[in-house]
Amino acid sequence: MEGPRLLSSSSLFWLAVCMLSLAPKKLVLGLDPNNPGYISIDCGALNNYPHPDLQIYYETDDGYIDSGESKQVSSDGMAESVRASAKTLREFPDGVRNCYTIPPITTSDEGSRKYLIRASFYYGNYDSQNRTLKFDLYIGVNYWTTVDISDPGSYIHKEIIHVVPPTEDAIQVCLVNTGTGTPLISSLELRQLADTMYPSDDQFPTLALYKRINMGNTANESVFRHPSDSYDRFWNVDHTNYDGPLSSAWNGTSPPALDRTNDAYKVPTEVLRTFITVESSHNFSFSSEAHEPRASKWISYLHFAEMENVSSPREFTIYSNDAFIKTVSLDYLVPMTVPTNQFTSDIGFKFKLLTNSSSSASSAPPIINAVELYYLPDISTRPTDLNDVNAMKGTKRAYNVTNKSWQGDPCVPTNFTWDGVKCITENPPRITSLNLSSYGLKGKIADSLANLTELISLDLSSNQLSGPIPELLAKLPNLNILNLSGNNLTGPIPESLQKKISDRKLELSVTDNPYLCLEDSCKPKKKRNSFVVPLIAVGSGLIVILSIALAVIWKLKMTKGKGQEGTVKLKNRPFTCNEVLKITDNFKTVIGKGGFGMVYLGTLANGTNVAVKMRSQTSKQGRKEFQAEAELLRIVHHRNLVSLVGYCDDAKNMALIYELMENGNLRQHLSDQSCNAQVLTWNERLRIAIDAAQGLDYLHNGCKPPIIHRDLKTQNILLNKSMQAKIADFGLSKAFAAENDSTISTRPAGTPGYLDPEYQSSGSLNRKSDVYSFGVILFELITGHPAMIRSASSSIHILQWVTPIIERGDIHSIVDPRLDGKFSVNSAWKMVEIAMSCVPSTAVQRPDISRVLTELKECWAIEMASERSQVMGSSKSRSMGPFQMTSVEVGCDSLPVAR
Ligand SMILES: *[C@@H]1O[C@H](CO)[C@@H](O)[C@H](O)[C@H]1NC(C)=O
Ligand SMILES: *[C@@H]1O[C@H](CO)[C@@H](O)[C@H](O)[C@H]1NC(C)=O
Ligand SMILES: *[C@@H]1O[C@H](CO)[C@@H](O)[C@H](O)[C@H]1NC(C)=O
Ligand SMILES: *[C@@H]1O[C@H](CO)[C@@H](O)[C@H](O)[C@H]1NC(C)=O
Ligand SMILES: *[C@@H]1O[C@H](CO)[C@@H](O)[C@H](O)[C@H]1NC(C)=O
Ligand SMILES: *[C@@H]1O[C@H](CO)[C@@H](O)[C@H](O)[C@H]1NC(C)=O
Ligand SMILES: *[C@@H]1O[C@H](CO)[C@@H](O)[C@H](O)[C@H]1NC(C)=O
Ligand SMILES: *[C@@H]1O[C@H](CO)[C@@H](O)[C@H](O)[C@H]1NC(C)=O
Repeated sequence: MEGPRLLSSSSLFWLAVCMLSLAPKKLVLGLDPNNPGYISIDCGALNNYPHPDLQIYYETDDGYIDSGESKQVSSDGMAESVRASAKTLREFPDGVRNCYTIPPITTSDEGSRKYLIRASFYYGNYDSQNRTLKFDLYIGVNYWTTVDISDPGSYIHKEIIHVVPPTEDAIQVCLVNTGTGTPLISSLELRQLADTMYPSDDQFPTLALYKRINMGNTANESVFRHPSDSYDRFWNVDHTNYDGPLSSAWNGTSPPALDRTNDAYKVPTEVLRTFITVESSHNFSFSSEAHEPRASKWISYLHFAEMENVSSPREFTIYSNDAFIKTVSLDYLVPMTVPTNQFTSDIGFKFKLLTNSSSSASSAPPIINAVELYYLPDISTRPTDLNDVNAMKGTKRAYNVTNKSWQGDPCVPTNFTWDGVKCITENPPRITSLNLSSYGLKGKIADSLANLTELISLDLSSNQLSGPIPELLAKLPNLNILNLSGNNLTGPIPESLQKKISDRKLELSVTDNPYLCLEDSCKPKKKRNSFVVPLIAVGSGLIVILSIALAVIWKLKMTKGKGQEGTVKLKNRPFTCNEVLKITDNFKTVIGKGGFGMVYLGTLANGTNVAVKMRSQTSKQGRKEFQAEAELLRIVHHRNLVSLVGYCDDAKNMALIYELMENGNLRQHLSDQSCNAQVLTWNERLRIAIDAAQGLDYLHNGCKPPIIHRDLKTQNILLNKSMQAKIADFGLSKAFAAENDSTISTRPAGTPGYLDPEYQSSGSLNRKSDVYSFGVILFELITGHPAMIRSASSSIHILQWVTPIIERGDIHSIVDPRLDGKFSVNSAWKMVEIAMSCVPSTAVQRPDISRVLTELKECWAIEMASERSQVMGSSKSRSMGPFQMTSVEVGCDSLPVAR
């Protein structure tokens, strides 16, 4: 299969080669001195070298790939016929996807962006395993073809003609391990083509080669390529079986000069000089099968050239798969190329060349000189936004990240998304989350990170990053979560970041950075009064809550706004039970009922409406629980926990007075009975989930010792006038005895359907028990079903119901049908994923609620992003919606007493 061995020495070529060997360092990547527009990579080769017969300069793959191992084919495989570039190869034992990245030779404004790309594969028994192998080849983020080396001695070429869109600045060729053998590659060649060749439209800018046949060349076993073909296409020997055609070849020693004036394709003269035709009949047809598993669209190019000086010009009509293409008339020595129309089936190619019946029967029969058959691969997946790609490349370089998944495009295809990277699959995909926690990053925070402009969450915790926190990070418009804890950062927190924190747009964590300056002295003078950065020592670490001061100011403003100096004092005020009588107007309006007794509407002296929960004498919920709740609520304050306004406690009566939650509990909103009420939208559900997670996160992680709610359920999630969710009912809550005591033993309590199975069986309680209940709540939000789905005869747990549907992958059967399909599938799957992560039967497998909260926020971001892309021209600032990403955690600095 070796190329033609003609012109074995051209003095000019050797001169150039000598100059190259004298100054190899000056060689720019891919610039073959004699062949501008060529990049010829001999994969796995140790040195660059000129190939004298081909007159092509091959280079090693250094700089094009950073993975894989260089190998040599075995000496048995080193047959004479093996091309130099096939003697070495690169194999990829690690990682699923490995990619070559090749910068195009031209930039957008000069020259063509159309390239012929050829990958060649020769196994040559390099590993002495005499194995067969099969793997996938991708062009960028799109599947190209499958390489099937079923014969260890075969030499396989795959070729594609690809237009690099202006939104990309490199070509990536990726080898994907499909579990059927370690992928390998022998060479990779790029040839820049003229724009006018192989015209393509925007929809199909890429053609994958099926066959390229040098028609009529049955005698000469040579594959013609460079230097015969200035574009180095391979013109293969014609093995077609014709039904009675005559093959013809030029007899002279040198082929006649062809008129190339209007010839864009430049099919080599050696190829054009052979052709096929028919002897007796003036019509003829030929065909080719077409087998390419995933190809659906096909196209062909037919090349003609009159090589015989016939008396009257040949004139014939071309049909392809019975469709009329064109009537042609050939001029002596003038090449002509006819592209056929596309066809979509895989019935194969069928060509008919019919002589015009009106033309003289004496004219010569039709001929054909060369044929190219292509299919159009589906390249509809768009790669990640170029800025994001470059920022990730910069980051990879800056930190020398060697993670095996960091190959090719960072986001797509989605099963190859880089570890730590999360994307929204917009068109083009964008990176929204980057988690480089514990990646061993050293040095400064890379500037390239600030180029990930759609980033919502950035986690650089637990690395060895040093230097200052760059101001640039504040430029990321959507950044909500920035975790820099566990590094060795220095200097102050940039003012612009502080501004975002105070605007409640950013959550920043900087714990365990011993040299970070958080003192007042680091603050600019002007801001001194509005920024107080308290340091609260908690255990061994330091939790910095930058927002406290602001939160306090904000709270004071709120109170002032109400014009009631009494409200603040009212907080947690003990009432007399007579006062309670007055507040509730003699228990006039019942607004709820629980196991403990009634809940009444009350109105304080200042007109504020409240909910008054009375403990009835016969209540199952004991005095102890009532007191526990009162005590707990006096200590914990969070906007996602129902707050206690006051309480009364005397010998006979007990009452707890809460802020009024006008919209009742979440279960009511989800249950079928209230279908006359407005169905909660997907967004509302997401926001409720985030609100509740924030409340729970505060109990678990904002309080020392942590508080376990123990009775989380949709009935205990209440909604206020503006549908903000708050967790209620702390009667069963427990605080941990000691900080390090992560588990306490207690009698199981709670509500069936929400009970952690591990807690049920062992009685050992920890924060993960609440996470389980929270997972059940998430499933209720997603599906609308209650925790226990009851039918006439039986009842099943929501998890039993949902798990088989998840396995089926049927998201539309999972999500509450009352939403009427109004949700984004991405965000729904993400919610399901989060909910699933909360409910493994073993507690250790469940994530911390803080992790769940982060995921939910990302889910929210996906939803917002998809809304944004749907509503054209809607402003970006809307993307955060009315919901605040910042949680302001004041309080819980006093210890709740464990009982
Ligand atoms: C390699 O395997 C093929 C069958 O796949 C077999 O025909 C051939 O003899 C083997 N060669 C060696 C050297 O084992
Ligand atoms: C095949 O073609 C090459 C290049 O034109 C030529 O040198 C060689 O002699 C040919 N071989 C045969 C058997 O025709
Ligand atoms: C080439 O030569 C053979 C005999 O040597 C002859 O039969 C044939 O017609 C010639 N072909 C052309 C195109 O002149
Ligand atoms: C060639 O095909 C055309 C169209 O089908 C027909 O009219 C013509 O008679 C055919 N010529 C010969 C020589 O068979
Ligand atoms: C990057 O990592 C590789 C492999 O761990 C190592 O060989 C190389 O020296 C590192 N380069 C830099 C610049 O740190
Ligand atoms: C990636 O996903 C596609 C589509 O879901 C699937 O066909 C392919 O097998 C997957 N590849 C790997 C290596 O998992
Ligand atoms: C960030 O992007 C801009 C514009 O694409 C580019 O000029 C700059 O070099 C990039 N910065 C880094 C650090 O990659
Ligand atoms: C952390 O940074 C400080 C100040 O730059 C330096 O003195 C110290 O050695 C660093 N510690 C580590 C573990 O790198």
